[in-house]
Amino acid sequence: MQVIYYSADQDAAAWVPGLQAALPQAEVRLWQPGAPLADYAVVWKPPQQLLDEQTHLKALFNTGAGVDALMKLQLPAGVPVIRLDDAGMSVQMAEYVCHAVIRHFREFAGYEADMGAGKWSFRKPRSRLDFPVGVLGLGVLGQRVARSVAQFDFPVNGWSRTAKALPGVRSFAGNEQLEQFLSASRILVCLLPLTRETENLLDAKRLSCLRPGGYVVNVARGAHLVDADLLSLLESGHLAGATLDVFRVEPLPKGHPFWQHPKITLTPHTSARTLRTESIAQIAGKIAAVERGERVAGLVDSNRGY
Ligand code: NAP
Ligand code: GLV
Repeated sequence: MQVIYYSADQDAAAWVPGLQAALPQAEVRLWQPGAPLADYAVVWKPPQQLLDEQTHLKALFNTGAGVDALMKLQLPAGVPVIRLDDAGMSVQMAEYVCHAVIRHFREFAGYEADMGAGKWSFRKPRSRLDFPVGVLGLGVLGQRVARSVAQFDFPVNGWSRTAKALPGVRSFAGNEQLEQFLSASRILVCLLPLTRETENLLDAKRLSCLRPGGYVVNVARGAHLVDADLLSLLESGHLAGATLDVFRVEPLPKGHPFWQHPKITLTPHTSARTLRTESIAQIAGKIAAVERGERVAGLVDSNRGY
């Protein structure tokens, strides 16, 4: 069995031997133009040339959860695309989002500033009932996040394409319930895949539906959010702040207004990293399952785009 690996930004020097150790029966190599035809490709943001050349693939594995970069390419017809299915990401996402929600709710940024200035001061306790958290996307990551936030007794709303029954989460589904979901939420967490339907979803119209003093946590993709609309709602005071991990252009260009904004907290696309050991184990297990003719989790529906 032949396996190729390609990544635009992961450490190939570690992935190739890692995959080889997990797949001793296979020959694993780094893809280069003109490489021999492989049975499986393990990729992150591959060039179109790889897909055009590799005409014998039995499956294409994406070493991330989001497949938006792959969906922009011409994919080989009939080849299953399989994305990472958690592989250690959901716990990272839950800790990141809980941290952002609690930091905002408990006003820790204000306390840090006060203590830094040598000021001993207290803020009035706030009721978490006034801070309902809305999670856009109740998939592998969104469900774990919604559950984790609910454990801190925040009211939690969730929005997805299809309705869900999750303990402690009020489910909203489809475009017809989006406005209702937003107006029931004050802190908004985006965990949607980036698709034709979800691009630019977080615009002035939608963000204005959040309760006054709204707060945005975007951990999905930068193109979900209309940057200028976020900035003007922060300016008007309808939104109190935002924590952003993802951006339209990454790295976030120097001089972008988000960099210095006092109400925006930034991180460099790090809320849930691909963990190499866990991911290789998952992919190797799935290659074995595909070889046995079994169905595997994480199969992408290219019509839906996720
Ligand atoms: P997933 O399991 O595929 O879940 C996607 C969720 O979004 C599902 O609940 C789906 O609804 C919902 N959804 C999709 N399109 C929708 C639409 N048009 N309207 C309403 N709901 C819609 O994906 P995941 O594994 O949770 O990952 C989510 C995203 O997180 C990824 O696509 C990626 O972009 C991002 N991500 C970011 C980082 C980071 O470090 N910042 C790391 C990993 C992932 P249904 O359940 O009804 O299908
Ligand atoms: C990271 O952003 C991923 O999609 O895995």
